[in-house]
Amino acid sequence: MRPIRECGIETKAVHGGEYHDPLGAVIPPIYQTSTFRFRDVDHGARLFRGEEDGYIYTRMRNPTIEAMENAIAVLEGGWKALGCASGMAAVHTTLAVLMQGGGRIVCSESVYGATATLLMALGPSYGIETTFVDTSRTEEIERAIRQDTKVVFIETPANPTLVITDIAAAADIAHHANATLVVDNTFMSPVLQHPFALGADVVIHSMTKFLNGHADVVGGVIVVKTEEQYKAFRSSLNLLGGVIDPFNAFLVHRGLKTLPLRIERQCANAMRIAEYLERHPAVQWVRYPGLRSHPQYELNRRQSDGPGAMISFELKGGLPAGKALMNSVHLCALAVSLGGVESLIQHPASMTHATMARELREQAAITDGLVRLSVGIENVEDILGDLDQGLSKL
Ligand SMILES: Cc1ncc(COP(=O)(O)O)c(C=O)c1O
Repeated sequence: MRPIRECGIETKAVHGGEYHDPLGAVIPPIYQTSTFRFRDVDHGARLFRGEEDGYIYTRMRNPTIEAMENAIAVLEGGWKALGCASGMAAVHTTLAVLMQGGGRIVCSESVYGATATLLMALGPSYGIETTFVDTSRTEEIERAIRQDTKVVFIETPANPTLVITDIAAAADIAHHANATLVVDNTFMSPVLQHPFALGADVVIHSMTKFLNGHADVVGGVIVVKTEEQYKAFRSSLNLLGGVIDPFNAFLVHRGLKTLPLRIERQCANAMRIAEYLERHPAVQWVRYPGLRSHPQYELNRRQSDGPGAMISFELKGGLPAGKALMNSVHLCALAVSLGGVESLIQHPASMTHATMARELREQAAITDGLVRLSVGIENVEDILGDLDQGLSKL
């Protein structure tokens, strides 16, 4: 058989986290334990000195978490992955490792609200200055880079505007300046986008979204390319403490196995819905990477294997019309988060991006009327019917 890393994405999703259980369990058991018994004092000391392989304490290593991490590392094509307690724990840990001693970050201006707020509110107290630019215009990244720039942080497609950044071009610019390129790959998942193959140095995800896919876990992950990076990230994650717990890791691992199937259905549903919205007379504009009207349609075709399941749009009636729609849908739940099997609709300006400074929201074109839809795996006619009855009430 081919090595797992050379298999198709569906096989990687099912078998990537292969775990060899002494009792032959096909699925890695949930090691819901904080600590592991040593055979004797010398054994414990050898484990702590790293002279023998084994488990000590779940904040450091846990077999259930490791199996899930291995599956994600295989899917992303990275060296190893580190499971975190949330996507924000993954962002924070990444910045803590890469920004030691302070310095500058060049960051996508359209970025998840809490990431922007973390950088703006807490960044300066860690000696971190952030320049937010439209990273889809790579010349803006180049212009923003200074001697003290350590990290270029991009989210692509961006939350919630779905602006797309050329990952390979961003990597070239970052590397030329000796900076590290971090890609938040949450919106595409490793099924659709492979940032390492395009030159990224670190890939992060909110696993709360597509990777778990069932809206029942909060989690994050950092994927690294080299053993050296892994050692630095693992030791910082252990000290900062934001690790995922075994049960949530088990659930994410279970969710991962159907990731390619879910994504396939979600993309097909989203394409139909985006086309429907674009034709609807009440709709002002639609942003979806699968539509030819998307400004980076060609780039998306080049750098990813599909358009994803996220749609942003604005109605002709602006915010009041958007509110009326969000208040009248039934199947699409009015809730934040995304990437799960159920369709979710929300209003970024007052919800996911409410903490982001208004000036930055305006700079990033996160308009007050923008509505964000995360398309699930329901029957597409039912989702269309739900949106149609909502739009007919406007
Ligand atoms: C693109 C992106 N990155 C990071 C996060 C943060 O993830 P979490 O909510 O799991 O902390 C989110 C959450 O919505 C997100 O959309």
